[in-house]
Amino acid sequence: MLLQKKFYSYLRREYFLLGQCLSFLHKHAYSIMRKIIITIDGFSSCGKSTLAKQLATKLNYVFIDSGAMYRAVTLYFLRNHVDWTNKDQVEEALKLIDLKFEYNSEAGKSDIYLNEENVEYVIRDLVVAEKVSEVAAVKEVREYAVAAQQLMGKRKGIVMDGRDIGTAVFPDAELKLFMTADPLVRVERRYKELFEKNPLVQIDEVKHNIEMRDYIDSNREFSPLRQAADAIVIDNSFISPDEQLKMAMDLAKERIKMAQQVEQRQSS
Ligand code: CDP
Repeated sequence: MLLQKKFYSYLRREYFLLGQCLSFLHKHAYSIMRKIIITIDGFSSCGKSTLAKQLATKLNYVFIDSGAMYRAVTLYFLRNHVDWTNKDQVEEALKLIDLKFEYNSEAGKSDIYLNEENVEYVIRDLVVAEKVSEVAAVKEVREYAVAAQQLMGKRKGIVMDGRDIGTAVFPDAELKLFMTADPLVRVERRYKELFEKNPLVQIDEVKHNIEMRDYIDSNREFSPLRQAADAIVIDNSFISPDEQLKMAMDLAKERIKMAQQVEQRQSS
């Protein structure tokens, strides 16, 4: 009887440990597999960051919102009265800017820090949005941000969203997505987000800001917003976030498998 009890308790413990191992493997499966780089580019308010964050969580990858870097630089320029049309002023100011991302477990994503200050909330303001595309068009600012972004992707296992990620930052990324959505849907989405923070915001100013940024981003001289030739387009005007995630996850799994096969062929 005692032996039987001991045997059952032994079995329970073994099953428990097996369960723990399986759940660990499930959670970290993609960390063990060959890692890839996923880029998500597209117009303003297409839901790029939402998808990037979901993908990164599923794959246990790092998510980097490259737009946050341009917004943080813009915030610094505005606060310190830096004239971004003046090359010398820009170069001097960039030397004084330290940007870093730190994981925020509550938000399930990283927050951006500008010289040790968490500016994640303040950079989303329309005041910053009004100027960010002008600042992001400056050559020195782009070189500064792109160098930092490429460093973050050195070890792969990263999902980065922005405007030039698949074309200029990681032209060899294994999976490139280009997101688009109906302009009216985009305006409504961004208006809802901003209204939650500031009920005084007007839908017309949101619409104007989105149109203006899309125009500047697509027509600037240095790495304008373009769909990479090998990017896959996702129009999410009328699909749910879950459907969108499933499409992207299927593609990511396929590309991870392909990358693994290439690696195996190279090592054999
Ligand atoms: O969230 P939303 O798509 O509206 O914008 P964001 O990703 O926060 O980016 C803000 C601005 O930064 C964009 O309108 C671009 O001017 C600039 N940006 C860029 O030039 N290149 C990137 N890779 C990301 C953002």
